[in-house]
Amino acid sequence: MKTKTVFVCQNCGSQSARWVGKCPNCEEWNSYVEETSITRSEGTSMRAQVAAGVATAPVLLKEVNIHQEKRYLTAIGEFDRVMGGGIVPGSVTLIGGDPGIGKSTIVLQAGCALARTGLKVLYISGEESVKQAKMRADRVAQSANENFFIVNEIDVQTIIGYIHELTPQVVIIDSIQVVHMAEISSSPGSVAQVRESAAVLTQVAKARGVALFLIGHVTKEGMLAGPRVLEHMVDTVLYFEGERYSSYRVLRANKNRFGSTNEIGVFEMTSTGLQEVLNPSEIFLCERPQDSSGSVVVPILEGTRPFLVEIQGLVSRSAFGMVRQKTQGFDANRLALLVAVLEKRLGLNLGDKDIFLNVVGGVKVMDPAADLGVILAVASALLDKVVPHDMAILGEVGLSSEVRSVAQIASRVNEAQKLGFTRCIVPKNNMKNKNDFKPTNIKLIPVATVREALDKL
Ligand code: TYD
Ligand code: MG
Repeated sequence: MKTKTVFVCQNCGSQSARWVGKCPNCEEWNSYVEETSITRSEGTSMRAQVAAGVATAPVLLKEVNIHQEKRYLTAIGEFDRVMGGGIVPGSVTLIGGDPGIGKSTIVLQAGCALARTGLKVLYISGEESVKQAKMRADRVAQSANENFFIVNEIDVQTIIGYIHELTPQVVIIDSIQVVHMAEISSSPGSVAQVRESAAVLTQVAKARGVALFLIGHVTKEGMLAGPRVLEHMVDTVLYFEGERYSSYRVLRANKNRFGSTNEIGVFEMTSTGLQEVLNPSEIFLCERPQDSSGSVVVPILEGTRPFLVEIQGLVSRSAFGMVRQKTQGFDANRLALLVAVLEKRLGLNLGDKDIFLNVVGGVKVMDPAADLGVILAVASALLDKVVPHDMAILGEVGLSSEVRSVAQIASRVNEAQKLGFTRCIVPKNNMKNKNDFKPTNIKLIPVATVREALDKL
């Protein structure tokens, strides 16, 4: 039989009959690799073969037993919350993140914790030897457990064999990029391998009610390497993020069929593994400089939990007429827009200045309620005007420099109050229904425009 080949983009998975230099879909250069083509029916029959023996018959929806849907808890509160309140049996979770961020560590800790609750856990370590994993487990002070099994294996068929043999309730694949199926000729890590391996493993997990964790690496663009296709197949996608040289790590749900996608978990990488950070605000604020211009505190909301972050701005005259804007932890395009508002609407002269913006502690802020804080950080740095130490800033900013209301103001203001802030700039529109919240020890300063906010400093 003549084998057909196709060219597949290793970044986004789109296919082409011939080689192309730049992917028309994701615009990645030089990402096409020749792979043996798998027709849909071949793929299906291959999966059917693998899944033989675990097939399930249709049942009446009303007869589906839901008290099976109880969740496994790891007792790592931050992890359970991001998972939507525990791990659902039969669910598939993809954990993505840069190399070295701590993916193996978190799943090992979660796995050990689950084993301690009496669940049988199978850890497929494709990247590290069993000894390395043991050393890591000892380091994170998790005693080896009767129920925690580990094997160094990359062949999907063999892995499925182990799952049938051991009947674990939880299976961890570290990582999906190294496992491979012998039936597919492409090399491990290629889109075809990753997609088919994940599909087969997912099917087995669903059929047996096994909670499956897949670890996946992320490319420099922040995409799950190659298999963006994977995101559609799994129930939950978690990203583990953090700055390389900061010890804080944030676990963020990107997709969750069993819970909210807004939740984050904050961890600190220590010499004994990842520790939960129960009160992130304190950590993010503990090194805040006193009475220094350019520093503001914003109560951001991640999921259901508010916490305070410090945003720092720095403005300096640029050399050689080359203006730079650099951000860390904040969207660069959003900063450009806010700077334009400052220039055009408030007449501040920023055209020949370099602007740097930093969110302290390696957090990524996506909450629009931080807009006003960002604007005031830049303005404060430019004008060398200090934002009072006990003042928090809240508000989304529109293009005409109006300050727009923010969601869930009460919990944000409460968080600020809890940490000793006595004043908070808030959007005027949020004050309309005052019954929403009754702050006691904090003075609210309503503003309608950026100009008003500046005047309050
Ligand atoms: P790891 O979980 O191997 O990352 P990933 O699987 O995402 O590639 O984490 C590796 C890093 O974490 C490594 O740089 C060392 C650090 N680390 C600690 O600081 N303390 C610890 O207890 C452990 C286990 C790792
Ligand atoms: Mg790893």
